[in-house]
Amino acid sequence: MTGPVSHFAANSLEHHWMPFTSNRDFKADPRLVVKSEGVYIWDHKGGKIIDGSSGLFCVAAGHGRKEIADAVHSALMTNDYTAPFGLAHPLSFALAQKVCAITPEPINHIFFGNSGSEAIDTALKICMAFHRANGEGHRVRFVSRERAYHGVNIGGVSLAGMVKNRETFSGVMPNVVCMRHTFDENQRFTRGQPENGWELANDLQRFVETYGGSTIAACFVEPIAGSTGVLIPPKGYLERLREICDQNGILLVFDEVICGFGRLGTPFAAQAFGVTPDIMTLAKALTNGCQPMGAVAVRDEIYDTVMNASPESAIEFFHGYTYSGHPAACAAGLATQEIYESEGLFARAAELSGYFLDAMYDLRDLDIVTDVRGYGLLAGIDVAQGAAPGARGASLQKKLFWEGLHVKFTGDAGIIAPPLIADRSHVDEICQVIRKVFEAEKA
Ligand SMILES: Cc1ncc(COP(=O)(O)O)c(C=O)c1O
Repeated sequence: MTGPVSHFAANSLEHHWMPFTSNRDFKADPRLVVKSEGVYIWDHKGGKIIDGSSGLFCVAAGHGRKEIADAVHSALMTNDYTAPFGLAHPLSFALAQKVCAITPEPINHIFFGNSGSEAIDTALKICMAFHRANGEGHRVRFVSRERAYHGVNIGGVSLAGMVKNRETFSGVMPNVVCMRHTFDENQRFTRGQPENGWELANDLQRFVETYGGSTIAACFVEPIAGSTGVLIPPKGYLERLREICDQNGILLVFDEVICGFGRLGTPFAAQAFGVTPDIMTLAKALTNGCQPMGAVAVRDEIYDTVMNASPESAIEFFHGYTYSGHPAACAAGLATQEIYESEGLFARAAELSGYFLDAMYDLRDLDIVTDVRGYGLLAGIDVAQGAAPGARGASLQKKLFWEGLHVKFTGDAGIIAPPLIADRSHVDEICQVIRKVFEAEKA
């Protein structure tokens, strides 16, 4: 292959300590991506690979979008950086307004950071600041859920319910309790929202009764638990969480880092499931993955309360990042949102969802497939465990790649989430590769 690889000058892979990767395994058999366009990426050997997970669920409008690259270039050439503390540039206000046009009412205020993990830590601080401003600084406990993934910063791993992500780093932020997750053996191969299981939300009620509702600051949940393998909330579950939060002054936080920006066929999971949280954390498809960016969206009441609790001209919230609302990220975000709008990509996702889910559930006949779950353009496929937990998943991820499909595996669950620009033929192609690779496996 000429071109894409020509600028790859490194002759050692040793210096880069790779994230969430078996470094030794990867460096023995590297999988380098050197080009990407539309629904495809290309490896360093020239192989064309369909992107079945939109990168890491961020490239919703497809790869290589010129509009976004041009907007970033233009932003950098016009005004490359503005100190965001006490100063600002116009693009951050424009993007905040744009995002608020699709958030549910009354969520109308956006705080910018640089990743989903930063969005989570920012949201934790907003909860604390809100309660303190409200004269309820005694609300110090947070509720999360087993199998949750809320990023990797200290706040996020303290909330985390995936053991590997927290066992080495636990104990830093106390006062976090986890509700049970919603996976149920009896609901294998349920399509969409399971009929049963809403009562698991009553775990929050038990915490209210155990610790006192007035000590709980917030309940954090991914509306669909994504990274753990796509657990769809049972019917009535999110509604029940909302009810318990309302009864006890607890803030409900939806981590929409994966679900947001059309993945479920609506702007956010809040609209897909008809439940409005108090706070939403956003990242990934906010900029189509073209620039690092995260954001926290909050209700009017939260913003107003924090604003009004400080004297005039005082800083109201002692938090922010050097790169909060960076011009390049805002430009990428604006161009991305314009693409979603002009190409009607959320509606397109909703339209393709039926075909996509049919195709995913058709894979249940494969011997190694033990469960399929899905909603919108997001599906989780469990495979029977191999020699050790996660071993088969890791091996399948590699095999699929060399056969022409990128899919993110967590443990033994593959997470399929094609770009929203995909069409039926792309869904077919994804399934063909899965079928070929999975059929070659022994159950
Ligand atoms: C639900 C959820 N929250 C937070 C994060 C963390 O985002 P980031 O990797 O951008 O820090 C992720 C990443 O996958 C996520 O899925």
